[in-house]
Amino acid sequence: MESWTCDKVVKQLLLRDELKSQTLAINEKSKSLEAEGKTVYKLGFGESPFPVPQFLIDEVVKNASANEYLPVQGLEELRKAFCSWIYAKYQAKYEPQNVIVAPGSKMNLFTCIASLSDNVEIIIVTPAWVTYFPITVIQNKKMTLLHTKPENNFIPTPEQVDELCAAEPNKLRVMIFNYPNNPSGTSLTIAQAKSLAASFRKNNIVILSDEIYGELFGHVNNGKDEENSHSTQVGHVSIATYCPERVILSNGISKVVGAGGYRMGVMAIPKDLAYLIKPMSVLASNSYSAVNAPIEKAAISVFKGYTPLANDRKPLPATKDALENEIYLSRSRRILNPIRRYAYDKLKASGVIVAEPTAAFYIYPIFTPYADKLKKRGITNDKDLCLDILAKKSVAVLYGSAFQRPADEFGMRVCLVDFNGKEVLDALAKEDEKNGWVFNNHSEVDVDMKFLEKNCAKLLKGINNLAEYAEELKAEK
Ligand SMILES: Cc1ncc(COP(=O)(O)O)c(C=O)c1O
Repeated sequence: MESWTCDKVVKQLLLRDELKSQTLAINEKSKSLEAEGKTVYKLGFGESPFPVPQFLIDEVVKNASANEYLPVQGLEELRKAFCSWIYAKYQAKYEPQNVIVAPGSKMNLFTCIASLSDNVEIIIVTPAWVTYFPITVIQNKKMTLLHTKPENNFIPTPEQVDELCAAEPNKLRVMIFNYPNNPSGTSLTIAQAKSLAASFRKNNIVILSDEIYGELFGHVNNGKDEENSHSTQVGHVSIATYCPERVILSNGISKVVGAGGYRMGVMAIPKDLAYLIKPMSVLASNSYSAVNAPIEKAAISVFKGYTPLANDRKPLPATKDALENEIYLSRSRRILNPIRRYAYDKLKASGVIVAEPTAAFYIYPIFTPYADKLKKRGITNDKDLCLDILAKKSVAVLYGSAFQRPADEFGMRVCLVDFNGKEVLDALAKEDEKNGWVFNNHSEVDVDMKFLEKNCAKLLKGINNLAEYAEELKAEK
């Protein structure tokens, strides 16, 4: 645990340096190497590799003439659709009047944190998405970092939460909680969500749950019981299912439909915290005003059309658009699952520390077992390690300190997205057609290695190169 209070000097330093988007910097560096004619394996930048599905493009086109300013809080129809989507998928009840729409979930996170009182302590669980730290620092909030452990799949334990709160049990705390997690790709099981929910209640912690990757959950067939697995049947496990009264749930369209550049996020706030809507709306109306009209109108189609099913976490899509979206997500998962597994097996065999990712498109290897060997090479921190990997193996990854991990842990985020998502989805659609595949959201069969070798060869080579770097360290006397 690390406590942070930000005085002016720290704030200035951070504004000057850290706030330059670290992920974008890696992307730029990779591009300049490519411009020199080198093949760079771009595993540094975590954008969805998949295209926007056609139904949403059609909706955007249909709404292109909408030029009016929309309500600051967002269209009621969209807020209603979002609430029914959350209920159908995660069985958590939120009211449309307590939902707010913004240009990107990042913006909602920003105004939500800004709207919290200054005596609230923000807990950032690490490894943490690069944005949480700067947006908390910019606003001069009290902050504590809670470092999770790879052996716990980078998920905080109830004991850690208790320990964090023990000294000042009455302090107001908001924990930024992000599962499926960027950068580790790990996600919650039902058992973990249940025990954490009990601990959050006991310690009176509010959870700001960023579930942007929820629909890219894994379906690891690990033979475990439902409570402890990441199976198709279970789907994404949202902490909101288990303590909705204290979970502020953030999502958007960046990953559910690969539309990051459309800029639209949605946040649902529990009844008891609904007073946050007002300051958030004031910030919104005096900065961005509202989300752009064509996108917001079109986005209704992303969340509409799901019918909740009793005791079933996988609602059947009831409209043509929802069905198209589910087929798209199902295919995306069937491609991502074996990619993650391949990366996990390769990296684990190379002797680095790695937690098995079960969702999204990330993996977070830690090179601590080779710390002494790296130091002998003059590499003393994660930035230097990533630069060395880029120089020797042409693999661009992002160093762990960007995710608030200690630099001498030698961790890094690997984004498993260096493939053409449109081409790969099209190839799978063709194969599915040939095989008479029928959508079944309870049973998804992954693509095989032959498919990956044919369609994602560059990505596999990038993973191999990274593993090779670790293997060489292993072999070094
Ligand atoms: C954890 C996490 N939250 C939020 C976002 C951004 O979401 P948006 O595009 O809705 O601002 C990202 C994007 O990479 C992310 O990784």
